[in-house]
Formats: sequence, structure tokens, C-alpha cells
Amino acid sequence: MKKPLLTVVLVSLLSTSAFAGSAFTEAKDSVKYRQSAFQLIRHNMADIADMLKGDVSYDAERVNKRATALATLTTLPWEAFTVPGAEQGGGDAKAAVWKNLSDFQSRGEKLATDALALKSAADSMDQAEVRKAFGSFARNCKACHDEYKN
Ligand code: HEC
Repeated sequence: MKKPLLTVVLVSLLSTSAFAGSAFTEAKDSVKYRQSAFQLIRHNMADIADMLKGDVSYDAERVNKRATALATLTTLPWEAFTVPGAEQGGGDAKAAVWKNLSDFQSRGEKLATDALALKSAADSMDQAEVRKAFGSFARNCKACHDEYKN
């Protein structure tokens, strides 16, 4: 008897590696997940930086789009540090992350709060406000990396 097409498609989808294991159930996947989130944070941030520096012309709509993305993206990496085995999954996080997890997580929350402030500044369409909020937002990166990233 022929199998229904849908079943065949589902079975073949589920058996490909992309669908085997979710982003958070395996330590290695959690490392990939948080690194991918950080990469997207970096790209969205760099685009705003380029506009503020005048490397590309300032576009308030585009700043708003990037700030909206950052408001979500900056909430993503942190839970991928606390899945079972996350510490052994590889990557560039120092052991200090898990020794001072509450400090680390509150720095993560601060980044997300500052991203919301950046989004509010972007909504105001006032470039001076954006510049100020961007400065506060950007200071979080190096401060945390100095303590917690190899
Ligand atoms: C609360 C701490 C913290 C903050 C704040 C933080 N980072 Fe990170 N970041 C880390 C840690 C830890 C890693 C290493 C993750 C890993 O390899 O598992 C990392 C890794 C990265 C990476 C490398 C990802 C890869 O592909 O390996 C980039 C890029 C990055 N961060 C960008 C940023 C930017 C830009 C900001 C600020 C907007 C920022 N981070 C804010 C902790 C932080």
C-alpha cells in the first residue's frame, strides 16, 4: 500500500538533522543558538553605528527597524546559558558565567532594558536621543565580554 504523501514528507523532515533535537535540549545546540543571537545583535547594532557615524546616510525608519530587532534579540541569548550541560557545550563563555550566574543574567537583562530605551529613542525620531541611547546600549557589550567572554 502507498503511504500518504504527507506522512512521507513529515517523516523525512523529522529525520533530517535540522529537526533532530530542539535549540535548547542539547548543550551544543544551546551554544550555537546563543552565538547566532549574538551575531544578529552585532549586525543590527553595527548598522545603527554606521548611520550615526555618517558612513551611510541616516535613515530614521531603518534605525527603528534595527532597534525593534535589538529589543527582541537581546532577550534571546541568556536562557541558552542555563540549559543542562550548557557549561560543557564549548564556545567562548568563561567558567565565571556559571560561578556568577545572577550577575551575568542581570547584565543580560540590563542589555535588553537598554535596547528598549533605544527603541523608544528611535520612536521619537530624534537623532540626538538615538545617539545617547545607543551609547548606553553599546557600553554593555565590552563590560560583559571583559568579565565573561574568552
Ligand atoms: C551579559 C553578558 C554579555 C553582554 C551584555 C553581551 N555579550 Fe556578547 N557574548 C557574551 C558571551 C558570554 C559570549 C560567548 C558566547 C559563547 O561562545 O557561548 C558572547 C559572544 C558574543 C559574540 C560572538 C558570537 C559567536 O559567533 O561566537 C558576539 C559577536 C557578541 N557577543 C556581540 C555582543 C554585542 C554586540 C553586545 C552588545 C550589544 C554583546 N555581545 C553583549 C556575553 C555578553
